[in-house]
Amino acid sequence: MLVGGQGTRLRPLTMSAPKPMLPVAGVPVTAHMLARARDAGIERVVLATSYRAEVFEEYFGDGSAHGLELEYVTETEPLGTGGAIRNVAGRLRGGPDDPVVIFNGDILSGLDIQALIRRHTAADAAVTLHLTEVPDPRAFGVVPVDADGRVTEFLEKTPDPPTNLINAGCYVFRRSVIDTIAVGRPVSVERETFPALLAASTPVMGYPDSTYWLDLGTPAAFVQGSRDLVTGRMVSSALPGPVGDCLVLAGAAVAADAKIGGGATVGARARVGAGAAVDGAVLFDGAVVEAGATVRDSVIGRDAVIGPGVLLDGVVVGDGAVIERGNELRAGARVFPGAVLTAGAVRFSSDRT
Ligand code: GTP
Repeated sequence: MLVGGQGTRLRPLTMSAPKPMLPVAGVPVTAHMLARARDAGIERVVLATSYRAEVFEEYFGDGSAHGLELEYVTETEPLGTGGAIRNVAGRLRGGPDDPVVIFNGDILSGLDIQALIRRHTAADAAVTLHLTEVPDPRAFGVVPVDADGRVTEFLEKTPDPPTNLINAGCYVFRRSVIDTIAVGRPVSVERETFPALLAASTPVMGYPDSTYWLDLGTPAAFVQGSRDLVTGRMVSSALPGPVGDCLVLAGAAVAADAKIGGGATVGARARVGAGAAVDGAVLFDGAVVEAGATVRDSVIGRDAVIGPGVLLDGVVVGDGAVIERGNELRAGARVFPGAVLTAGAVRFSSDRT
């Protein structure tokens, strides 16, 4: 499982925690992913870490509390997706033809992992990729397949893509193929390894499916993913509470007349004041929403304080920031950790940091 990225698109949240450790529906993204792997019968996972490597082992330990055997391999410099896979080769068990499942660590997906492995084994492929269909593929590289499901090309972003299928961030490698990736330098599987396999006429298969799929890489997707887990649209056995309209973690204090809904999460020790509304938003542990404030589709960092009557819609607030009364922020605005917006400083903001 690749969990070493910088998570730049989720800044400033990723300034204090790596993206895979950010809590989505109450537990780290990685906890949901590990639960999916375990529920599919996987028993041992190697976490390929780089950025903020230490926090993974602190949280997950040897994995026994999560029903898995976990190991950690840390890169001294980030090696990219392919380099990270190559870097853990020595820790993988099994024979040269055995399947190894690789997960990008920021994906929520209902993929049937065993079905992906079966497709890979039946086709005797070098690599088999989970592919998902997106409505507008122009923002992605696309992966066309032929009638037998064999990948024909890896195309970079183009204004006129020939297919809606994109790489969904989960692949099965034949164990021996990992040994062919270059050692000790950054390698991208998408840009280098996969195209090189095709160029050498090595069989690369696609496994398109239409189950739930979401890349949590942007603030809007992060909020969406959290909501989908809370409301049960995306099923996860790591959800720390029953499926419902909201998830309020133990130790949170919510005023009786506050409205919490739309799949919102209220973190441990968080507080929501009288008459406040939290709609589809994610409040990290210790966040405070004062009386009469409205927080919609936003992520509020640890111990941040949203003042009385403040309106936030589609905003990311870093850990410990304070937004005093009379502020109104919308549409992609980001507030840095520890920043203080004094009373009435901002009435409207879009895509500002
Ligand atoms: P952005 O900077 O916002 O694009 O996020 P990111 O750094 O996570 O990059 P991206 O979403 O493309 O990464 C896909 C997956 O690969 C994520 O799970 C990352 O954690 C992981 N990843 C990316 N680069 C590296 C790396 O150099 N080493 C390791 N171990 N994992 C990586």
